Order: sequence, then C-alpha cells, then structure tokens
Amino acid sequence: MTEPLIRVKQLAYVRVEAPDVAKAEKFLDEFGLQLVERSNRKTYLRGTDAEAPCYILSQGTGTVTAIAFEADSFEDLQKVSALPGASQIEPLEEPSGGQAVRLTDPTGMQVEIVHGRQALEPLDAAPSHTYNMNGQRQRVGELPAISHGPSRVRRIGHLVLESADPQALYRWYHERFGLTKSDAVVLPDGSPQMVFSRLDRGADYVDHHVVGFQYALDEGTRVQHIAFEVGNLDDLMSGHQHLKRNKYRNVWGVGRHLLGGQIFDYWKSPSGLIHEHWTDTDLINQQHEASDCGIGEMRDYWGPDPKPEFLIARWNFKVIKNLLTILKARSRSAA
Ligand SMILES: [Fe+2]
Repeated sequence: MTEPLIRVKQLAYVRVEAPDVAKAEKFLDEFGLQLVERSNRKTYLRGTDAEAPCYILSQGTGTVTAIAFEADSFEDLQKVSALPGASQIEPLEEPSGGQAVRLTDPTGMQVEIVHGRQALEPLDAAPSHTYNMNGQRQRVGELPAISHGPSRVRRIGHLVLESADPQALYRWYHERFGLTKSDAVVLPDGSPQMVFSRLDRGADYVDHHVVGFQYALDEGTRVQHIAFEVGNLDDLMSGHQHLKRNKYRNVWGVGRHLLGGQIFDYWKSPSGLIHEHWTDTDLINQQHEASDCGIGEMRDYWGPDPKPEFLIARWNFKVIKNLLTILKARSRSAA
C-alpha cells in the first residue's frame, strides 16, 4: 500500500446531532460522559482523562456529522490542507482552541484533522481495587471499591464506519491519515466484512482498533457505533445496571470480543445511535501480524448474540440477500 501522507495520533472527537438535545444530554449523562459546557448552541462532553472534549452535541438529525483526529504537528495540518478538496487551516471555533483542516471522505462524512487543542485537567476515574482471583489473595481485609450509578467514561476509543465498500474506504483513510489494518473479518467471497484499523505509532502500543470499516448489510453509509473506554469491569457492569434501570435499550453485551479483546456493552441513544462501553482492549504495535478471519469462524470469547437492531440499521432487499450469505457461511463452518 502507498506510504501514508501523515499518521494521526488519536481519535479526537465526534460531532453528533440529536433531534431532542435535552433527551440526548440525559442519556449521555447516564452513559457516563461529563458535561464541560454549553455554548454556541452546542453541548461539550468529556471523559475523565486529561483530554479536550470528545463529544460535541447539537440539535439536528440524530446522526454523527463529523469525526475528528488529532495530528502530531502543524506541519501535518499543512500536508492535509494541500489535498484536493481539503479546507485551509482554520481556527477551531470551539472552547478547546486549536486549528483544523476539514475534508470529506468518499461516503460524505466530514473528517476534521486537528492540532493544538487545550487538554482539560483530568477528573477522578472510576474507583478500582485488586482481586482475589487466579489463586492470588491481593484484596485482603478490604471491601471492593465500586461506585453505583453511571460508568465513568475515560475517553473516546473507536468508531465503526459502514459502507458498501469497506476496503476502499479503509484505503482512503490509510493513504491520508495512516490508519493501518490490524485484522479483518472476511465474507465467503474473500471481500472484507470488517477491516479493523489502528493508529500507526510504530513500536508504541495502541488499541487494537480506532476505526472499523464495516460492510453495511443494507449497503448504506453511516457511523454504526461510537465507543468509549470505561474504568474497569466493575465500572462497566455497574453502568450496565444503571442504564438498564433507567430503561435504555441494550443492543449487545455484555461480552468479550475476539478481535480487539475488549469486554463490551452496547446501548442505543434515544435517537438510535449506538454507544459502546468497553474495557480491557488488546494493545498491539508494529510487531502485530494482521490476520483475516472467515465470518463463519468468527466467534467472540463469550457473551450473547447481538440483537438484530445492532446489525441492521435499515431493512431493504440487500439486507436479506447479505444476511443469507452470512448465515450460509456460518452453517457451513459449524457443519
Ligand atoms: Fe466497538
């Protein structure tokens, strides 16, 4: 593959629109993001890590309208700004300050490459404790430290982009921003159902994936889910109970993924956007050898099957055709 133009440093934030902002804010509060401020008709939310806001909410359609990545340097912004269709380097009109270049990916998603945002002071993360497990006795004479209520989100971790051609979309992000394939799930014809990509930080260990490029069963385009790291397993489970008690809709989980290794838990926002809590991701670096896993063989370590609404954003004939192909592959591998 072509040498990337730049190699982005991290996923910075998402811009999300909701038809009912008050309802969306309530959900995000119960989900465990924390309010930074409301200004410019936007709501800025954050995790507990020392980072600028990772979630910018405004009134609108109920979808993700932009995704942003942090670049290493101003020089990287200059390189991106020279791409066809890219904007000039502009001040980022947000409380974090900084600068941005905007461009549009082949699916129409706005992509913002940013630099120089001011990090916020860290907040208290979820409480943690040691364990009396695996034959070890570490928590001696102490109660477990677990808070009730919402999970405490630390940071934004990854998102999944759905399209009819995930390989082409992955290539677009690889060539421009250096996202690099970690592993893939492939359909019976060898084409990818999902390309998991990570940040390319050389010898430094990074999350197994920062963007998943997924084949959309309806062949539409969308952000299929956005995912946030929470403190630990107790924090995730405590937040699960909290969201359940508050009558939010769980669409998959709790389970542990095979590719990425995270313990996961997926919830639908009031406007139908899927938000994930996860903890304990696999961390990999340039030593990692990418593998292709047949969809028929794909089994998570443990956990329930996803609800149909996790897999299918919209019904059409393509969904039925594509589902039949996948089900056939699974039954062949089970035989
Ligand atoms: Fe995820």
